[in-house]
Amino acid sequence: MTQDERDHFESSANDDVFETHMHEVRLFPPPAAFSAQARLKSMEEYDRLYVRSIENPEEFWGDAAEELEWFKPWERVLDESAPHARWFTGGKLNLAHNCLDRHARGPRRDKTALIWEGEPCAEDGSAEVRRLTYDELLKQVQRFANVLKSLGVKKGDRVAVYMGMSPELAIAVLACARVGAVHLVIFGGFGPQAIGERVRDGDCGVVVTQDRSYWKGTKVGLKQMLDEALEKCPDVRSVVVYQREPGCPVAMKAGRDLWWHEGMAAASAECPPEWMDAEDPLFILYTSGTTGKPKGLVHTTGGYAVQTYLSTKYVFDIREEDVYWCTADIGWVTGHSYVLYGPLQNGATVLLYEGSPVWPEKDRYWRIVDDHKVTVFYTAPTAIRAFIRWGTEWVQAHDLSSLRLLGTVGEPINPEAWVWYHRHIGQGRRPIVDTWWQSETGSIMIAPIPGVIATKPGSATRPFFGVVPEIVSQEGDPLGPNQGGLLIIKRPWPSMARTIWKNAELYDKTYFPKGPGAYVTGDGARCDEDGYYWLLGRLDDVINVNGHRLGTVEIESALVGHPGVAEAAVVGRPDELKGQAVAAFVTLKESVAPRLELKEELRQWVSKEIGPMARPDDMRFVQHLPKTRSGKIMRRLLRELATTGTVKGDTTALEDYSVLELLREGGE
Ligand code: PRX
Repeated sequence: MTQDERDHFESSANDDVFETHMHEVRLFPPPAAFSAQARLKSMEEYDRLYVRSIENPEEFWGDAAEELEWFKPWERVLDESAPHARWFTGGKLNLAHNCLDRHARGPRRDKTALIWEGEPCAEDGSAEVRRLTYDELLKQVQRFANVLKSLGVKKGDRVAVYMGMSPELAIAVLACARVGAVHLVIFGGFGPQAIGERVRDGDCGVVVTQDRSYWKGTKVGLKQMLDEALEKCPDVRSVVVYQREPGCPVAMKAGRDLWWHEGMAAASAECPPEWMDAEDPLFILYTSGTTGKPKGLVHTTGGYAVQTYLSTKYVFDIREEDVYWCTADIGWVTGHSYVLYGPLQNGATVLLYEGSPVWPEKDRYWRIVDDHKVTVFYTAPTAIRAFIRWGTEWVQAHDLSSLRLLGTVGEPINPEAWVWYHRHIGQGRRPIVDTWWQSETGSIMIAPIPGVIATKPGSATRPFFGVVPEIVSQEGDPLGPNQGGLLIIKRPWPSMARTIWKNAELYDKTYFPKGPGAYVTGDGARCDEDGYYWLLGRLDDVINVNGHRLGTVEIESALVGHPGVAEAAVVGRPDELKGQAVAAFVTLKESVAPRLELKEELRQWVSKEIGPMARPDDMRFVQHLPKTRSGKIMRRLLRELATTGTVKGDTTALEDYSVLELLREGGE
């Protein structure tokens, strides 16, 4: 490590993550009834496939790719010539075609592709439900593809999509894929600052949005929020507005804004798919990192298609008759890969729910499972912790016998939450797949194959096919069983993000600091004596609040954008419900008095600038921030302070010890 790297590590390292889960020894073998029906039934089958995927990746991934439709076959499965691996080079395909046409032309033509349920409920508790067959979805996607074309959208253009969870969001995304436009989905919970930043960075000329969405019974004015953002995005020439709530007044800008339904009515229902090169970009998705600016991860078409397809097939053991529900929003990577592309390529029936789990009551999810006979349910640990808090009576009121497989994603699941999920939702007999992966990896990397691998609560278990993880020290040396260290991935896999939009250098520096042979995940982990991986949390300045990944630096940038703030440091502290909570330490400009109302104002400010999920839970005014000699804020100390109220850890790198006293005394 260079001095600078060491300094950075000292200022931010999250040492305490290595301490957890060391005593968990429970083992849950796959239920025999599940294994008997499963695609993979024995450890020997899994081992054989895994070994083949590592020893002969070209053959393994080539076979998987054969299950999809290609307009032109690839020349090479894996091209490892520097700087980074490329997959299925020379091959041509279209991902919307693989999600839709392939099924709509055959026996799945009239199979339900999407079941959508809206949030609002009538007096009797009933909600609006829409169902689209593969044939209907294909027609709508083609129509919207033609709307995009009529607005001048061509292959390679970026189209931003800022919508709520509606079938139209799925249609917009798939239509982009069909015409070869690069979709850039912006989560519907983001505010104007975050929207504008993404639209500008992505050079989007066209944005698709909707009038309003629903969350916890309130209407969220998406179009209004977008309009505010677009005041600073002069290059946006067209905005398509889906009308979620006919009759509600919406300001439409003449010459720029077009109603979705008017565009669709005028468009033809036939639009041949664009032939995309396997390495052509499919989407950009922004994610938080250790810089103040979100990074636009660029995912390409062929490798992403194959790995999302194959992981859905094996990890969810997807079946023809499944009703598959992943509760993630399409605005996050989980929604891209496991609401849309993975399950639709597998010809599954996918459930979409528009709103909050608490509306109108805390049993909404279980009502949906019961009403639609959901068979596969995939959610986040933060949701499970909320279910536990609300109590089992909400669960018991419903018949969950349709469920056959459960999943989690997004953060480490604490063993108690795992066991509750197993007992109360899984009724003690459904496998749980704890899936570890990241926006960068595109698809699941570590997870149990449910008919085969015995699970241990809190462990994501074994690597997926083709994935070679390793635990190394800060110096890059391999560590032995149960030693906590950095998780790296040693071999290339097909769905890896290929670059950071407009910043290839940052991509190399962040993910491949030691060259293309080792992808650095940013997570701490340990591998036990059985080869099971235990994910221990982020080691960098990224925190995970309610399953949402946030860069602390991003929140700091928002805070220092406030006229009263001189400097800000943001850290995560453990929170029973949210996983982590945001704690902000702020120094004010000399002319500004530390008033209580200002704390609330700053919280609101962050909520408005980034989105409500980034709103700090703790806001402390301090006179100075602790820094290393080279001027880096010592987040490690602040993390300790925010968590325990005091600092005992190593302070040798601290520049001015008196700062600690001031922080201890003057925290509030
Ligand atoms: O820290 C890991 C955590 O979420 C991070 C990735 O966040 P994001 O890119 O937003 O993608 C979330 C959905 C894939 C990881 O670096 N994480 C994700 N899944 C797990 C997890 N931590 C532990 N166990 C998991 N199953």
